[in-house]
Amino acid sequence: MSHAFIVNGAQVESTAPDDTPLLDVLRDELDLKGSRFGCGQGLCGACTVLVDGRPVLSCDTPLWAVAGKAVTTVEALVRDGTGARVKSALIEAQAGQCGYCLSGIAVRLTHAIDTGLRNRAELADALSRNLCRCGAQPRILAAAVAVAQELAQQPNTKVA
Ligand code: FES
Ligand code: FES
Repeated sequence: MSHAFIVNGAQVESTAPDDTPLLDVLRDELDLKGSRFGCGQGLCGACTVLVDGRPVLSCDTPLWAVAGKAVTTVEALVRDGTGARVKSALIEAQAGQCGYCLSGIAVRLTHAIDTGLRNRAELADALSRNLCRCGAQPRILAAAVAVAQELAQQPNTKVA
């Protein structure tokens, strides 16, 4: 049986077994390597993607669960809009160390900012769902706060 869904705006179909982790389909079938394998157990957030606009852990999401849904990976999310701002802020601040966690974190923070989170405490809470083994969270959080505050000062800021 195959499962049809949308990835970054394109219709895709996978014949992988029902319980194949979405992360494996993204990386191995669709060659979208931005979503990372960290723990594989739904604990670290390195594999975070959006499904129908909400953050999910793709290592812990079976293929069948995304049938008919829209998946957005970091590759598309940071092309423009809030995602591009988050990416630039992380790079400008040299926020990461090894960088392994950053794609999942960029997805998480872009969603958090797009849903209206603007202050440090709110963003820190969102960030708490993604681990950084290098301990770079303070720089990552500072970059996110800078983006959120910049948007807060602009009228017509997108709030999804
Ligand atoms: S790799 Fe998915 S949560 Fe760690
Ligand atoms: S920068 Fe290395 S895991 Fe976060």
